[in-house]
Order: sequence, then C-alpha cells, then structure tokens
Amino acid sequence: MAVSEKHTIAVLISGSGSNLQAIIDASERGEIPCRVGIVLSNKEDAYGLDRAKKHGIPTEVVSHKEFPTREAFDRRLIEVIRKSGAALVCLAGFMRVLTPVFVQAFPHRILNIHPALLPSFPGTHGPKQALDHGVRFSGCTVHFLDEGVDTGPIIVQAIVPVYDDDTEDTLAARILVQEHKIYPMAIRLFFQGKLKIEGRRVRVLGEPKIPEFFHRNPDA
Ligand code: GAR
Repeated sequence: MAVSEKHTIAVLISGSGSNLQAIIDASERGEIPCRVGIVLSNKEDAYGLDRAKKHGIPTEVVSHKEFPTREAFDRRLIEVIRKSGAALVCLAGFMRVLTPVFVQAFPHRILNIHPALLPSFPGTHGPKQALDHGVRFSGCTVHFLDEGVDTGPIIVQAIVPVYDDDTEDTLAARILVQEHKIYPMAIRLFFQGKLKIEGRRVRVLGEPKIPEFFHRNPDA
C-alpha cells in the first residue's frame, strides 16, 4: 500500500511512545496509508520525542503547566495540530484529559488507545484495575474520542489472559504487545474509509467473521 502524502497524522504522547513507534514502523513499512507529520508531548522529557527525532519527525512540547486552564492548553494544541495539516489525531499514551474544545475541533478525527477492555477500567492504571477486580481476561481498546473519559465509540479491541502470578507490570506488558498491533490496524481502517460511526457503534465495512472464536481462562 503506497503512503499517500496527503494523509498526515498528529500523535500526542506523554511518555515512552512505544505506540508511537509502532505507528511509525507501520507507516515506514507501508502498512498504513499515512505518515506521522508531528509528535506533540505535554512533557519535555518524554522518550517518545527521541523516537520521533530519530525518524526525522517534527516534535513540539506543549506543557500543560504553562496554561491557566485546560481549555487554553487545548487551544494551543489545536493550533499546532492545524498548522501541521494532520487529517487524524492519535492519542498514544497522552495522559491529559482533553476538553470539549479539543474534541469539537476535530470531530470523529481523534483516536485514543486504552489498556483495558472498555467500558471496563477507564481512566488511569487500566491493568491494575483489571488485576484488582480479578477478571480473567483484559486487553486493549482503540476508540474515537468523545467528550467523556474513555467513553467514545469502540473501533477495535484485543484480549489477553490475566494470570494468577501477574503483576501490574507483567499484565501491562502483555497488553502493550497487542496495542502495537491494533493501533496501526485502526488507523488503516480509518484511512481506508471502512469505519462508519452509527451512534455508539462503529461498523467496520467488510469485517471478517472469526471462525470458532472461543477462548477461556483458565484453560483447565
Ligand atoms: C499505553 O499502555 C496506553 O494504552 C496507555 O499508556 C501507555 C502508553 O505507552 N494509555 C492510557 O492509560 C490512557 N488512559 P506508550 O507511551 O509506550 O505508548
């Protein structure tokens, strides 16, 4: 699949940026029809900024601490993203809650990834919440951003088992492996025009059925 110059995306990060890396790699391999045009971070020491620079991708730090209100912070983000010409905004471990000002600036053009099977365990520490609750499966979700916290229409989810000897870190690491697969997938489906939002539901055009989909944990 050829990378179209007209599709650029803005990726917003706060930390390690391993999802950003997965998106960059998918783009460079030609698996998604877009390229990362700008990486924004609210933290100047986010490792993801180094990842972007290694690939020659422009970066910008917009520190939330420098703005008197959440809305003022969001307006600055909007300005930078608009200037970049991005057709899609991807939140990838961006740990700030965005206001309706931001959501309304890019209607149905913002994706988020969350390390849990939403609507379970929204907010922070998704893997820890799953462990504390005692679920046998958790996973990750890519969804369109709406004005709530992790409440928007769901595009794709992947599941992972939760084991008795898991810690927050081991479960988060198992989930992250799947995140790196489903985020590029969701971006591809978006640019292929295969996602139709119908109320809360996202219809995936041409969605294949998974034969004999059956998982249990424990597999005793
Ligand atoms: C990822 O697990 C992502 O799902 C999570 O932060 C991590 C960022 O990792 N996001 C949230 O918890 C948002 N509520 P990364 O910086 O290596 O991509």
